[in-house]
Amino acid sequence: SWTMLNIVEDAVEAVRAQVGEGRAVCGLSGGVDSAVAAAIVQRAIGDRLTCVFVDHGLLRKGEAEQVERDFVEATGVKLRVVDASERFLKALSGVTDPEEKRKIIGREFIRVFEDEARAIIADGPVDFLVQGTLYPDVVESGGGTGTANIKSHHNVGGLPDDLKFQLVEPLRTLFKDEVRRAGEELGLPPAMVWRQPFPGPGLGIRIIGEVTRERLDLLREADAIAREELTRAGLDRDIWQCPVVLLADVRSVGVQGDGRTYGHPVVLRPVTSEDAMTADWSRVPYDVLARISTRITNEVREVNRVVLDVTSKPPGTIEWE
Ligand code: XMP
Repeated sequence: SWTMLNIVEDAVEAVRAQVGEGRAVCGLSGGVDSAVAAAIVQRAIGDRLTCVFVDHGLLRKGEAEQVERDFVEATGVKLRVVDASERFLKALSGVTDPEEKRKIIGREFIRVFEDEARAIIADGPVDFLVQGTLYPDVVESGGGTGTANIKSHHNVGGLPDDLKFQLVEPLRTLFKDEVRRAGEELGLPPAMVWRQPFPGPGLGIRIIGEVTRERLDLLREADAIAREELTRAGLDRDIWQCPVVLLADVRSVGVQGDGRTYGHPVVLRPVTSEDAMTADWSRVPYDVLARISTRITNEVREVNRVVLDVTSKPPGTIEWE
């Protein structure tokens, strides 16, 4: 639309004015905010922006490709990809406590990002760090402007003192729906623009128990099936998000063909919400639930049971960890 076009153009101009001839770095998470922020800055300063995508191996099926291929194709952004999944798995090995998982994932993320930032700086000075801070985040954190180092989002810690950047925050005046419209205006992949909320620690906090590569693969398959069927049923706009949770430390007896199975349950947690502060469980039609259940138990080896979470928030949180 005309107004959205203006908002995008104004943001591009503002970035040009702020960054001048300088260089900037931006971490991409796979989410819409960092993607739109990066796309705006790319329009403003082109190749003087370098994006970094730390693939922690905890994203859902197809999401890494969305960043590495579709986003780059759509924007022409200069991107460095780090496959850090091995490193994250090693750091998470033996860990079951949810907060401990979050801390480890946040810490490793910063370390990998820091290494990349140093490598980029080796090619010439970088003064700016791009962040997808939205208006509600600004209000929530007291409205300070950024000369600080990385904003401490609930999953990202701080960069060391010698890596000081000025923050570039092109989405500071926007609400989420405006960011999505800006993303459409910028021609970003629709799956990214319309992506439902997804936690920074990713599937790491949707495996109840230790995170292993095998368990991640199982959960990725089950999650992809649930998302596909919810999308096919036209429910994406009604549902705020639908975590799929693998109860990796639970086994139950099942039967398939002539054989007894002893597999894991997955939990479907579809919720409706306005802002994630409170939520209700979604009344997903039974036939949609049935298709998801049939497909997951047929197609995902090791999963022999699908259960539905019918808890509102409060008392239950949206995520299980
Ligand atoms: P809960 O589980 O607290 O989740 O009801 C509320 C919203 O926040 C997301 N969430 C997170 N997002 N890092 C994030 O970036 C996290 O550690 C985290 N934990 C929960 C969750 O998906 C929901 O949208």
